[in-house]
Amino acid sequence: MRSHYCGALTTDQIDETVTLCGWVDRRRDHGGVIFLDMRDRQGIVQVVFDPDTEEHFEAADRVRSEYVLRVTGRVRARGEGTVNPTMATGQIEVLGKELEILNAAETPPFQLDEHTSVGEDVRLRYRYMDLRRNEMQQRFIQRSKITTAVRNFLDAEGFLDIETPILTRATPEGARDYLVPSRTHPGQFFALPQSPQLFKQLLMVSGFDRYYQIAKCFRDEDLRADRQPEFTQIDIETAFLDEAAIMEITERMIVGLFDQVLDVQLPAFPHMTYAEAMERFGSDKPDLRIPLELVSVDDLMAQVEFKVFHGPATDPDGRVAALKVTGGSGISRKEIDAYTKFVSVYGARGLAWIKVNDIAAGVEGLQSPILKFMPEEIVTQLMQRLEAADGDIIFFGADKTAIVNESLGALRVKLGEDQGLIADGWAPLWVVDFPMFEPDSQGNLTPLHHPFTAPSCSVEELKANPATALSRAYDMVLNGTELGGGSIRIHQRSMQEAVFDILAIAPAEAQEKFGFLLDALKYGAPPHGGLAFGLDRLVMLMTGSASIRDVIAFPKTQSAACVMTEAPGVVDSAQLRELNIRLREAPAAADKAEEG
Ligand code: AMO
Ligand code: AMP
Repeated sequence: MRSHYCGALTTDQIDETVTLCGWVDRRRDHGGVIFLDMRDRQGIVQVVFDPDTEEHFEAADRVRSEYVLRVTGRVRARGEGTVNPTMATGQIEVLGKELEILNAAETPPFQLDEHTSVGEDVRLRYRYMDLRRNEMQQRFIQRSKITTAVRNFLDAEGFLDIETPILTRATPEGARDYLVPSRTHPGQFFALPQSPQLFKQLLMVSGFDRYYQIAKCFRDEDLRADRQPEFTQIDIETAFLDEAAIMEITERMIVGLFDQVLDVQLPAFPHMTYAEAMERFGSDKPDLRIPLELVSVDDLMAQVEFKVFHGPATDPDGRVAALKVTGGSGISRKEIDAYTKFVSVYGARGLAWIKVNDIAAGVEGLQSPILKFMPEEIVTQLMQRLEAADGDIIFFGADKTAIVNESLGALRVKLGEDQGLIADGWAPLWVVDFPMFEPDSQGNLTPLHHPFTAPSCSVEELKANPATALSRAYDMVLNGTELGGGSIRIHQRSMQEAVFDILAIAPAEAQEKFGFLLDALKYGAPPHGGLAFGLDRLVMLMTGSASIRDVIAFPKTQSAACVMTEAPGVVDSAQLRELNIRLREAPAAADKAEEG
């Protein structure tokens, strides 16, 4: 139907007759001449109709925003003074000769160029309209380039693209499952995969050696700006490669991707242990662009009487840490109050601070609500350790280690944003040497990654000291986002059984849930390991998008619903009966009908 994309026309086509298909972005009537901005996925071009073309001029007069047109005309250079340098096609325009209205459009629910004036719910309800915006089109063009580059890379490295089931059994990745009732097995349910983890391990047992899949994953968990209930992983598994080799290949993939798609040369990826990341940044996904660090001061605070500090400083599970903001003494009391409220969300019971006005004047030169609780000698040592200088502010957290790390880790990022401290560019790293387990709120050990991750010690050592055992897991972090994570897996049945045992999964339960895996480990499972990247997060970072919803064509809302299709929805009773399901309460169908 078309000879060219609107946005692809250049001065090369001057004097050519072209046929375009697209949408009316804008229509202007300039006293007898009609200007149509025509839009397609490549961009916009101006088409001019003058009354000479009578019947087509009349049609052009009738069209409105978002009409779908087919236009034939001659490309010509724009006259002196009418060149539009802000437009990619601003050097030229098309003198329209023929115009066919392929479809009319009602007044759009929002003007595309005024999308910021409507709520996100409106944009999501009319997602297909919102996706017409150039910014959105560019994001999905990038997303497609990224997946193509990933596929090409992995294919060249000998990885096979193999699909795994969506209707399956629970794969534990720490979230709730989405369940699908079975009609043929009354009372039984499939779970949608939280990841293809077990299947990809089984493919290694089968001998496929290098597998990848761009796979949909489903997790019923609390949503945030970088989480969706349904998201996509670049899922990778290999046999006979150790963690160094897996990190090397996947790092090369990401470096190549940034080079190819963004023309960005990523710096080398430092390796940092989990322990160091927590100690210095309070986070296992530190944003290394922010020049702020947590400094432990437990030894000093153990010597003060101030209970708030003395307690955690002397508690083996406690921590007192300082966070110095160079030149931050201008932060007002009101702002400090706001930061105190901010850290309270993470369980912090307060946020002590010291402003350094005149370091040479000793304690006299400091300003703080906690100085009265500290001997001068300790304050002096504190200032030395923190290398404090005039104009600095120092924040303190004192509590259980997990609370201090989480609250000061989050404050570090917030201060980085608020104070404009985040450096430009890209700061990737690998975080390694994770603990195998972490205690939950009841003190039971839970896997830090998933229960199939291999420890870096023997079965005996693991059983003896599970709480301190390290795993062979690794996460790739970029600008404070966990892009991907993986590990070397357990390939020996005895080790897998030991891990289930530590997780208090009884043998019968292990057999019931993971019998197929335990069986497979008996029949010649090779050493194997892999990794999965969050594709949506990767695209989000690479396109500079603020929300994961911006890079998913049809995303879910914060409450895990789709406002466009109105999913999830009620089903009729016949369908429920067929599935052998009776609802405990009548669905809110009546409400729905009323709303609608
Ligand atoms: P993990 O659970 O760390 O590991 O997931 C891998 C990556 O997937 C992304 N991700 C998400 N993205 C959007 N929304 C979500 N709800 C969401 N959850 C996770 C993150 C994360 O780094 N099977 C293992 C991988 C392995 O061991 O090979 C797994 O799924 O970017
Ligand atoms: P208070 O004596 O409770 O008024 O606390 C004195 C200062 O210590 C205030 O600035 C509090 O915000 C701060 N503070 C109280 N508890 C903590 C804590 N757990 N960690 C860090 N600072 C705290």
